Amino acid sequence: MSQLSQRPDNAVVGQRHRHESAAAHVTGTALYTDDLAQRLAGVLHAYPVQSTSAHAKILGLDASAALQMPGVVRVITAADIPGVNDQGAKHDEPLLPVDEVMFFGQPVAWVLGEDLEAAKAGAKAVNVDYEQLDSLITIKEAIAAGSFHGIQPEIAKGDPEAGFAQSAHVFDGEFEFSGQEHFYLETQNSLAMVDESGQIMIHCSTQHPTETQDIVSHVLGISAHEVTVQVLRMGGGFGGKEMQPHGYAALAALGAVLTGRPVRVRLDRTLDMTMTGKRHGFHATWKIGFDEQGRILALQAQLTADGGWSLDLSEPVLTRAMCHIDNSYWIPNIKVSGRIAKCHKTSQTAFRGFGGPQGMLVMEDILGRVAPQLGLDARELRRRNFYTEGQDTPYYQPVRHPERLEAAWNQVLDSAGIAAREQQIAQFNATHEHAKRGLALTPVKFGISFNLTAFNQGGALVLVYKDGSVLVNHGGTEMGQGLHTKMLQVAATALGVPLSMVRNAPTRTDKVPNTSATAASSGSDLNGGAVKDACEQIRDRLAQVAAGMLGVPAQDVRFGGGRVTALGKGETLEWTDVVKTAYFQRIQLSASGFYRTEGLHWDLSRMTGSPFTYFAYGVAASEVEVSRFDGSYVLRRVDIVHDVGDSLSPLVDLGQIEGGFVQGTGWLTLEDLRWDTSDGPGRGRVATQAASTYKIPSFSEMPEIFNVSLLQKAHEEGAVYGSKAVGEPPLMLAFSVREAIRQAVAAFGPAGRSVQLASPATPEAVFWAIESVWEGQ
Ligand code: MTE
Ligand code: MOS
Repeated sequence: MSQLSQRPDNAVVGQRHRHESAAAHVTGTALYTDDLAQRLAGVLHAYPVQSTSAHAKILGLDASAALQMPGVVRVITAADIPGVNDQGAKHDEPLLPVDEVMFFGQPVAWVLGEDLEAAKAGAKAVNVDYEQLDSLITIKEAIAAGSFHGIQPEIAKGDPEAGFAQSAHVFDGEFEFSGQEHFYLETQNSLAMVDESGQIMIHCSTQHPTETQDIVSHVLGISAHEVTVQVLRMGGGFGGKEMQPHGYAALAALGAVLTGRPVRVRLDRTLDMTMTGKRHGFHATWKIGFDEQGRILALQAQLTADGGWSLDLSEPVLTRAMCHIDNSYWIPNIKVSGRIAKCHKTSQTAFRGFGGPQGMLVMEDILGRVAPQLGLDARELRRRNFYTEGQDTPYYQPVRHPERLEAAWNQVLDSAGIAAREQQIAQFNATHEHAKRGLALTPVKFGISFNLTAFNQGGALVLVYKDGSVLVNHGGTEMGQGLHTKMLQVAATALGVPLSMVRNAPTRTDKVPNTSATAASSGSDLNGGAVKDACEQIRDRLAQVAAGMLGVPAQDVRFGGGRVTALGKGETLEWTDVVKTAYFQRIQLSASGFYRTEGLHWDLSRMTGSPFTYFAYGVAASEVEVSRFDGSYVLRRVDIVHDVGDSLSPLVDLGQIEGGFVQGTGWLTLEDLRWDTSDGPGRGRVATQAASTYKIPSFSEMPEIFNVSLLQKAHEEGAVYGSKAVGEPPLMLAFSVREAIRQAVAAFGPAGRSVQLASPATPEAVFWAIESVWEGQ
């Protein structure tokens, strides 16, 4: 077993501890970025002047009336930017437009006011003159106009033409599906201040503090060491705070520099929904060939991501989508091409799964649609195509441990009593004309690591104080996913102290530099490796000290439960005494740790390599009941078996699986993002811009029965304490809900009918799907 994955006896990792902030979250005492602003005097509020056109030339901007208003302190425009006017990583995303607006709602200028009301009133009084330009709103409009940006990658393996020629059945189709609003409970938030030496301090709700620091420094034209970013915690990020916070942080910092006062940017829900990027909707065309037994022989597909006005993270989102079109299925001959539509909408961004869900949805939709035409049960069709040992992905990465998928599948079949329930459902459907039930199992295989190899590094700074207490700093950010909880458990395990002796400090760029985004689910893999490394350096030094105290060689010293012992000796020392002795011996009690994932390689130009350190697996079975009258449905029961390796923190992992599943179900069945596509004056406006028109899951949509278990005997060799990432993969377990709805809809029609289902499968969409198969009166 590798050093990294080996777990000592009585380890604190693996124990069922609740989230370190659980009590603070539920009692409302947990502080977020904007709470800090409320404790500060003299803070200015920023409010945007938003574009009222999807695409227009700016002819003039007049702020004179606004500047006369009481409480208005300053109006910030592009001309005020001392450094580079860019808030993105691709230099195609001006922080403030110079002469052209690119989407409805884009901030054209910001007003700083003594309070929010003054800033808002000032923003209303700013006059902008536009000359309307033609706009592209839908993905189809962009495709028709040939409007694309960024790379156009291709995955190719085998010989698809030969595969189709050999196929007994060939199908083709088209599928367009919707994106998703992040709807993190805490909207985008930044608070910036500047000290007497010009040092900028930014409190920001960001998943990527280092990149926030980079962008703030290039907007201000200063060096990175003049900017510190701190993240206390986020009230959810879900990928929406990986790139999107940078511009708001830069704006707050610019305001602080221009006025010498702290500046607070806090978007209300509608500002957030109209200005920030969302999950990419996609358009796909596909052709697939099967042999007589229903095994996939060839797939050809074109994926178009709806990128919005600037690139943001659309390129890596697209490549991850393409790398996940296989989901869990072996495809010997394949060609997938990808492109990014450029249109006049918010710039779409990372969202839990980072394109993976979109690629996999295409495949799950294909299988759900064609199963009846193949004369196969959809469940059997899926299982028949699972990867087996020795096979590799379309980008040539060997698929390790495919037997875990099979094991999870069988466990769900068994524990959820699928065979008996299928019979009950058939009986129910035979006796109910206006209500039908459906049950579906779907698998997940999700690659863990950033596709871009360089991002797979993590850092930490661990401090042991003279009294034995431990403070952990690491490069990851907390957004509710429980990363800090896991890092505390890792540190307690590596040092052999009780959890109560370890505390976590807020994430800061002046503690751990050059960090990667907390994203791609790899927060605990990367930062866990680094925290463990730092702790082990300290522990090894303390072992020398303890060896002297116990009169044994250092390799015989053991740490555990706050005590230090020697192999085969009765005598024990208190951890605190060893630390104190070490201090007097002038032994360093702090260490910085580092970790990088080994063995990764990726060739973006050819889309080949081994970009993922391992795959996370999971299986879900969902049962729904659908009403003929209005297409409404209830989720009767969900059973999940998910692979998290040897869990670092089982309660946290269960929460991630439940939450991810529910968020995925929201995307696929409820959350209906709409833009105004008319030719009227509202063209390009996000029509769903508040909770009143955008429905996210609530308690009433929870499954009536919800069983989640972790796959047992799933030790992951070469990962921190044998664990696996969990943040994103469970979202894709929600395919089972969509496929169960498809099964129920099919039951309203004659046997063997293929059902097409829109995504999201809202009750309205389900109603129309029933109409398409219904032959009764
Ligand atoms: N869970 C909660 N509660 N809140 C979040 O914002 N983000 C998800 C996932 N789980 C998120 C969450 C996303 S998109 C990712 S990439 C991972 O958490 C990031 O954290 P990790 O790498 O520590 O798993
Ligand atoms: Mo998650 S979409 O990688 O932040």
